[in-house]
Amino acid sequence: QTVLILNGPNLNLLGVREPEIYGRTTLADIEDICTASAAEAGLGVRCIQSNHEGELIDAVHEARETTVGAIINAGAYTHTSLALHDALKSYDHPIIEVHLSNPHARESFRHHSYLSPVAAAVITGAGAKGYVHAMEILADKLGTAAG
Ligand code: DQA
Repeated sequence: QTVLILNGPNLNLLGVREPEIYGRTTLADIEDICTASAAEAGLGVRCIQSNHEGELIDAVHEARETTVGAIINAGAYTHTSLALHDALKSYDHPIIEVHLSNPHARESFRHHSYLSPVAAAVITGAGAKGYVHAMEILADKLGTAAG
């Protein structure tokens, strides 16, 4: 059973991009962390990062039949993408929304999320550890071992 780990725009720059907000953990580190925590729950991962809205949507479509749940940090598309919201509505598995920072404690344009209405849980402000928490919650919802 495979979990989709989907990271959106600018998250490829994690570690060097505004480290005071997003920390020093790189995307490769996060994908390793996800792989390890998924394995504890007997799950595999498919990690995708894209800076392109359409590619994120394609990834969700492709994952519909091949994955059992998704952990998604859509970056700024969180706040803008009705199209990603619609794509996720067609994804018939639990979705956990993750943000490294806490968007609610930041600029008002980060306060609205197009993902939250389709998410089973939302984790914000926990840094890279948020992905581990997300995996635990997902495993719980899927009824696998580490849940
Ligand atoms: C983010 C928060 C978003 O507001 C921002 O555009 C990002 C990263 C986070 O992980 O904290 O790119 O999703």
